[in-house]
Amino acid sequence: MHSRALFVAAVSCGLAAVDAFTKCPASSPSRAALAPPGYGKLARSSSSLLTVKMGRKPIVGGNWKCNPAETAKLPELIGNFKKCAETLDKCDVYVCPSNLHVGMVYDKFPKGIMVTPQNCNFKGCGAYTGEMAVDQMVDMGLKSCLIGHSERRGEFGLPTPKETNALLATKLDYILSKGLTCIFCIGECLPIRQKGIDAVLAECADELRDIVPILKKLEDKSRVVIAYEPVWAIGTGVTASPEQAQETHKGIRDWIAKNVDQNTADEIRIQYGGSATAANAGELAAMPDIDGFLVGGVSLKAEIADIVKAMVVAKGDSATGVSSGASKVR
Ligand code: 13P
Repeated sequence: MHSRALFVAAVSCGLAAVDAFTKCPASSPSRAALAPPGYGKLARSSSSLLTVKMGRKPIVGGNWKCNPAETAKLPELIGNFKKCAETLDKCDVYVCPSNLHVGMVYDKFPKGIMVTPQNCNFKGCGAYTGEMAVDQMVDMGLKSCLIGHSERRGEFGLPTPKETNALLATKLDYILSKGLTCIFCIGECLPIRQKGIDAVLAECADELRDIVPILKKLEDKSRVVIAYEPVWAIGTGVTASPEQAQETHKGIRDWIAKNVDQNTADEIRIQYGGSATAANAGELAAMPDIDGFLVGGVSLKAEIADIVKAMVVAKGDSATGVSSGASKVR
């Protein structure tokens, strides 16, 4: 069991554990309003022909984080996604290789699997040592980018700078302005979950508030995917129960309806992440407000295909709908 699990093993049956290192990062006080004009038009031209408004198309992502250690392992890991590509008409699939490996593998996956960097900078090319620009992703033909993972928001006591809500809003704006889809991660740490659902939803609202103006002006709502990943479930083997996850996803959707608009709430996809496996994916996927998964550890195994399959089976014929048409591209 992952060491984090030692602290949070009690979560699913009462949330009694106190996790010494899931202290919540200070939430950003600033509320930047951010979106220059432009990406609404870009969204329309890039996707309107492919968008069929029937329902939310499921989406499953694999986050390899900082793995594998050896490049020799990459072909096998890529091979695990072959099966996932068989149902791209019913479920979008993306994969987030480590930053170092993106350039090696971005054109090696089956067509339609979206290679999705785990981060981007806030602006573009130039004197930004250690950063990755969306402009470079565009040039490589990439169609999506993930930001805001809790491992970058200052969770887990990592000695790295905490990315603030305001910075993430700036990054989202930049990603959308370049025509990419964004996976935008949010989620609460254990002490917040222990306070109950109202505290959880207040935290999710804090993490989303800065992107409200951006969501409001976005024409194709499928270009932002919210990945709800409770921090206490990440890498712990402790999964949110289907009811817990559904309650939270519905709460997030209701908040979006109230603070953005009903159309955005209806169309935006919300993924669940946190110890998702083939064994628990079916029950979670059956929940009406769970539109997909963001998978960590299991995305490094052949089992990832079973998670995609569980999603396709659970959503059935509704699994073809509002999509940016991403499955048509790399
Ligand atoms: P696990 O599936 O390993 O819990 O990781 C979830 C995650 O953090 C994906 O981004």
